[in-house]
Amino acid sequence: MRKYNRWDLFFARGLQRVMRNPKTKFDEREFVTKGSDYLFNYAEKNVGTIDEGRRNFMKALAIGVGVAAVAGLLPGLRVLPAPGVGITKFPKVLLVDSSGSPLKASTLPINEPVITIYLYPLADEPNFLLNLGDASNKPVQVQPTEVVIPQTGEKYSFPGGVGPSKSIVSYSAICQHLGCEPPEIHFYPPSYMKLGMPAPAELTAEALLAAKQANAPGVIHCDCHGSTYDPYHGASVLTGPTQRPLPYVELEWDPTTDYLYAVEEGGVPVYGHTSDLTGGNPLSGDTTTVSKTINPFS
Ligand code: FES
Repeated sequence: MRKYNRWDLFFARGLQRVMRNPKTKFDEREFVTKGSDYLFNYAEKNVGTIDEGRRNFMKALAIGVGVAAVAGLLPGLRVLPAPGVGITKFPKVLLVDSSGSPLKASTLPINEPVITIYLYPLADEPNFLLNLGDASNKPVQVQPTEVVIPQTGEKYSFPGGVGPSKSIVSYSAICQHLGCEPPEIHFYPPSYMKLGMPAPAELTAEALLAAKQANAPGVIHCDCHGSTYDPYHGASVLTGPTQRPLPYVELEWDPTTDYLYAVEEGGVPVYGHTSDLTGGNPLSGDTTTVSKTINPFS
């Protein structure tokens, strides 16, 4: 059996979020009656695909969910990692690589399809780090813009890109529809913006048209149910079912050192959280590690 990895953990967190959501509430009575098959079907419908390895991971979760559900003492979701109390203000944290060295903004590849994430401001909140480019992989200066929240019609200001070419942006990697996380949600670089690409390129003609009309060379797309976001314009919504943009992380770039800092989160609250400061454990220390994981296209 394979070892569980961070994607299993992200999957479990996504599951935790949809179990909390009144619209997708987990039915413990059904679970007690039907057993782990109910949990598998529920997770596949609301979070994402379950391969054999993840099925084994889910079986381990099912034991915990079952104990709590049968005992009737706790909602099933509480056997998953418990949320902490949060923080009182946004920390300023330095982005570092896996060896602990500060990340250099000018070394970030442009339009990289590999998923690049870090946690901020809470330890259960992954965010994308993207260096955006055009179809020729030249950096695109990401302008400050007003982002519309389709759910309410309200707007907020997105501060734009940072770095040597003002092309580096960061957004929550938790889908605002039902909370799917990487690898289900990920960046589609310009070279993948066409129909008929190998799996998991599930972009629809509607998404491609919306991106073209918005002048977005690439998109962030959630493979769970097809929500599409425009990372070149504040991660605004291109196609539903999401009705809310991805929250942004405000970055600071120090031109003398080329270092990047995360200083605040803005826009709408992260999915599953009532505010950006609550619903998880604080980060420890004043750094956050940027990690690169599988290329979902390979
Ligand atoms: S969770 Fe439904 S589209 Fe992302």
